Amino acid sequence: MYKKELQKDQKKKTHPVPQQLVRRRKLFGIIIVGVIILLAFVAIFLFFSRSKNPHITAEKKISTDMIGDSKYADTRSRFVTQETTTSHLHAEYPITGTKQIDATIAATIDSDRAHYSSDTTSRQPALHTTFTFNSSYQVPYADTTYFSIVVSTNYDAQLAHPVALSHSWTFNRKTGAVIESSALFKDSAGMPALLAAVQTSVIQQDNKQGGVMDSSSVGDFISTDTIRNFTILDRKYIRFYFGRGDVAPESDGTMIVSIPATTMQNYLKPDLAKTIFDLTAPLPPQQTTSTPAKGDSDCPAKCVALTFDDGPGAYTDQLLDILSSNHVGATFFVIGQSVASHPTLVKREVSLGYDVGNHTRDHPQLTQLSIPQIDSELAQTNQAITSAGLTPILMRPPYGAANTAVYQEAAKYNLAAIHWSVDTRDWADRNSSIVCNRAVAGAGPGAIILMHDIHPTTVNAVPCIIKGISAAGYKMVTISQLLGHPSPGKVYYSASS
Ligand code: NI
Repeated sequence: MYKKELQKDQKKKTHPVPQQLVRRRKLFGIIIVGVIILLAFVAIFLFFSRSKNPHITAEKKISTDMIGDSKYADTRSRFVTQETTTSHLHAEYPITGTKQIDATIAATIDSDRAHYSSDTTSRQPALHTTFTFNSSYQVPYADTTYFSIVVSTNYDAQLAHPVALSHSWTFNRKTGAVIESSALFKDSAGMPALLAAVQTSVIQQDNKQGGVMDSSSVGDFISTDTIRNFTILDRKYIRFYFGRGDVAPESDGTMIVSIPATTMQNYLKPDLAKTIFDLTAPLPPQQTTSTPAKGDSDCPAKCVALTFDDGPGAYTDQLLDILSSNHVGATFFVIGQSVASHPTLVKREVSLGYDVGNHTRDHPQLTQLSIPQIDSELAQTNQAITSAGLTPILMRPPYGAANTAVYQEAAKYNLAAIHWSVDTRDWADRNSSIVCNRAVAGAGPGAIILMHDIHPTTVNAVPCIIKGISAAGYKMVTISQLLGHPSPGKVYYSASS
């Protein structure tokens, strides 16, 4: 009994102790939960602040550096792609096989990249956008001795204006040395004559775009130093490529100036002139300025033609939506077999007023076929296009492979042979940025731009191409609008040749 009482007593005495423990445990639990919530907030804060810090986003950089084929003989390309959350950079470096040439060009592209880098460092692009950089090249002329190349760099660092740079050179392939314009002339009278010719052309181009440049102001922009580097075109022209703001106000955009070598004939060194320029052959007929019936009065000076080969296909409908909603002309060189399997697509091309040309039935190399085989390729495709509602007047030989026999057969079917002056090489580089950059960089008076509507990357590049070419001041038209009345059997590379 005593014991029981004692126990009771003890119980009474010990009762408050467990209650305190429970309270402490509760308090401890609340503190733990509080700390966990606090840590979670700290973690979320750190995550967001890190992703906004450009130095840390570099960890997320996608960077590739790969070698790919180029369409130019003996020239390959090294493609560099760097993508971060704030910047998309694509650069194409030529690999010509002559180290000194490659090094000269690479140093220039690297310098463009350095400018882009300094223009974007410590800055953030506008919400949901990135800074962009694209650099690619074209080879207007190459033989065993001479190599002309133009590098076009476009970047948008979201400063006052997007930047459009042109760099061009003619190299001696064997030595890797740059051949400067002054080396073309036998005496000191050559450069002033060339300068005057370039200045006249720039004034004309500026005035056509509504500018007010004249002979007194042109000297502020163009000196002999501006025309130090030249390129060769068709062995007939001394051609210059200028970036935006290089030779005229920025609003004029990029400019291409072609001076017929024959006009410089009295100044050229006889030996060099003979090896570089073909001064004996007559110049290609110049485009008449009279307005052809089906042509466009702005053409060819302010027009370019977008052409799409090898369709119709899975992406043609999407392309037609883009072109028609932007009120832009285009020409389709279709394959007979595909016309047969997608007749409604060709009907849609025709109903939208686009040109549809013959690109053969099976896409063979026509130069390897017999005359009856060429006949059959052209005849069956003509028939398929005619069934879709248009009698074709244009053809394009697959791979650009053609000879007299091919042109004679084209003439027989009342088809003009349409090549191109700008190759976007969209089949090789399935990259919309590169394709857009090549198309926009190549846009010049009367240019014919080659693409393929069977690649989704090409179709996706078209909005960017339309924007860029419009901004450069050119109208996109069909081949018939560009050329007026293309003559059957005649060969065209652009509106000026
Ligand atoms: Ni083709």
